[in-house]
Amino acid sequence: MKIKPAQKIHGEITVPGDKSISHRAIMLGALAQGETVVRGFLPSADCLATIDCFKKMGIAIEMSNVECPMSNDCKIIIKGKGLRGLTKPNKVLDVGNSGTTIRLMTGILAGQGFSCEITGDSSIQKRPMLRVVMPLSEMGALIDGRKEKDNVFAPLKIHGQPLKGITYELPVASAQVKSAIMLAGLFTEGKTQVIEKNKSRDHTERMFEYFGASNKGFDGREIDVPGDLSSAAFFLVAGLLVAGSELTIHNVGLNPTRTGIIDVLHRMGAMLEVKDEQLISGEPRGTITVHCPLSAISLTGIKIDGDIVPRIIDEFPIIAVAATQAEGTTEIRGARELRVKESDRIATISSELRKMGAKIKELDDGMIIEGPTKLKGAKVKSYGDHRIAMSLAIAGLIAEGETEIDDTACIETSFPGFEKLLNEILV
Ligand code: S3P
Repeated sequence: MKIKPAQKIHGEITVPGDKSISHRAIMLGALAQGETVVRGFLPSADCLATIDCFKKMGIAIEMSNVECPMSNDCKIIIKGKGLRGLTKPNKVLDVGNSGTTIRLMTGILAGQGFSCEITGDSSIQKRPMLRVVMPLSEMGALIDGRKEKDNVFAPLKIHGQPLKGITYELPVASAQVKSAIMLAGLFTEGKTQVIEKNKSRDHTERMFEYFGASNKGFDGREIDVPGDLSSAAFFLVAGLLVAGSELTIHNVGLNPTRTGIIDVLHRMGAMLEVKDEQLISGEPRGTITVHCPLSAISLTGIKIDGDIVPRIIDEFPIIAVAATQAEGTTEIRGARELRVKESDRIATISSELRKMGAKIKELDDGMIIEGPTKLKGAKVKSYGDHRIAMSLAIAGLIAEGETEIDDTACIETSFPGFEKLLNEILV
């Protein structure tokens, strides 16, 4: 992808559906009895991988208008067969690049009456799986994986077993681990309890409640998915960094366990307004407007650490871009988890923004960014990580000269239509 400096950004847009909620809607829809209709579904590669896993286990899923990812008409219908309705797949389940799929599916597969194998691309095969294998084994699961460096990696062979409920305290804040345990809990006799010190995103809890999900079974429902705040974040930062811009994003998810980006941008002094909040299908949503004054960017550097980290975990690459333009020092700590995402995001965003002239120091668990620096266009790499690719594209809008990002196909994993939407709002 080639990005030229932007003059101004202007418009009213919507972004594609929330990735975390779309995955969970497919999963609960498949385990429910009867039809589940999901509107505003995210038809990205990651969510299509989750659909493919369930199709391989005998669940019929119809899709319509998937070519219009920003539209609420993008819809799937899942013909759920109930808690005991999955059948043994006759092929390996392939999650592609999707960490959410492999971790949550492992929870579901642990309690089935069959064995199967699940794997993904080269990035997935480097992501730690012990964090789900450990609690699931405590529940009675039998899972074999590649053992290396005190951890377990995909491909995983999961031998479905009768499971028992446990009480588990999460060692790291992780919604994926929490959700894997909750989903496995649907296949146990007793009670399953997860305790978290630092609250991670609670979409699974909300969706369990919305479906009335329990180990006694539950029925299909209609769900409306809001736009993904993590996708909106790229455009919000673009609207805050390009002088003279004004951008409104409608129908964006505002779940409080995800809104760390809004709090952080406010603390940095951003002109950002949230309105029209409403709760639909158990999830809050609303409209966000950002402005950037014509004269000068007015962001200031801040310290980000502690409780807010899980609430902004996917937005650190784009926050790093914003921090290069903020006055003073931005210090990010307590975010070691970034090292085990789709890429090592502390290393990848630091090295690529440095090529554009940014002043960034890597920490073991974060970054220190000095600003403001005038960025220069450069040849940069995404490392196959969608959020690194999109963050660099936004950096390119405020850089001098052209920015060329290699391997932007990965953007499809979470944000189909990103480049087209970006071109639509450039004035
Ligand atoms: C997700 C949870 C987060 C997040 C990921 C999606 C989810 O991961 O980074 O993009 O849908 O549950 P962790 O739970 O590993 O922190």
